[in-house]
Amino acid sequence: MRSIIDVRDLSIEEIDELIRIACDIIDNPGKYSEMCHGKKLATLFFEPSTRTRLSFEAAMYELGGNVLGFSEAQSSSAAKGESVADTARTVGCYADIIAMRHPKEGAPYVASLHAGIPVINAGDGGHNHPTQTLADLLTIYREKGGFSGLTVGFCGDLKFGRTVHSLINALARYEDIKIVLISPEELKLPSYVKRDVLKKNKIPYVQTTDLEDAIPQLDILYMTRVQRERFFNEEDYLRLKDSYILDPKKLVNAKEDLCIMHPLPRVNEISVAIDEDPRACYFKQVLNGKYMRMALMLKLLEIL
Ligand code: NCD
Repeated sequence: MRSIIDVRDLSIEEIDELIRIACDIIDNPGKYSEMCHGKKLATLFFEPSTRTRLSFEAAMYELGGNVLGFSEAQSSSAAKGESVADTARTVGCYADIIAMRHPKEGAPYVASLHAGIPVINAGDGGHNHPTQTLADLLTIYREKGGFSGLTVGFCGDLKFGRTVHSLINALARYEDIKIVLISPEELKLPSYVKRDVLKKNKIPYVQTTDLEDAIPQLDILYMTRVQRERFFNEEDYLRLKDSYILDPKKLVNAKEDLCIMHPLPRVNEISVAIDEDPRACYFKQVLNGKYMRMALMLKLLEIL
């Protein structure tokens, strides 16, 4: 019985295998349509979500399984003061696998110690979001054919953005990756990620506040939302929220095959005028997320 809490719980070989399975699902969906017959996914979402929860649910339905769960803490016994450990142990009696999102860092890990069934971290506070990373990796793979040799820019809230932390963690294991960190001073990548991931893996990186200046060298531009729910005061959020807005003018000097990504939801970070640009990949990420979650659940349920 195995859980996925951090993207490092998967080896590079296992990520390659998930990508291979996801590509096969895209080509041969019929082959997979009954593979999870009789299986139940529980989605335990203590924080808002559109894509992550619905793509997990769609993934399980497309595998022929069923879904149960809740989409807000208030509708679960957490509102009465139940611990994550007890909730997990309870759900372990009803389901075969859990996808869990929680505002507290480490909550899905605690759940994995008590559930008795696999737990997938669907986002824990400002920490990690490994299945968004799987969606991002499949997108990069389909757009670029691989990961080595890429210069990847991360822009926006690099402090609280859990999708950024997980994707950097995954990319740091590939060859010849360069990272450009673009953020306001207050929202820089946490020093523990720089130390434990970038420096440890000898990944060259630069930090800047200037998006336009950074764009021409990038193969991938990963835009992110300023994470309002993690701020201590609204004033700081309001001051920082529109730090970066990508519009067609800023793309004038960008590479022709730049891949523009965003985990979504976007607020103002990418102008809708870019949506029809062939370099816009953020809605491709949405779809790729469903395929990678299908592949991951098949592996964790030991069906493949
Ligand atoms: C992200 C998240 O929840 O961390 N959303 C998602 O799952 N695609 C990004 C965000 O909320 O900004």
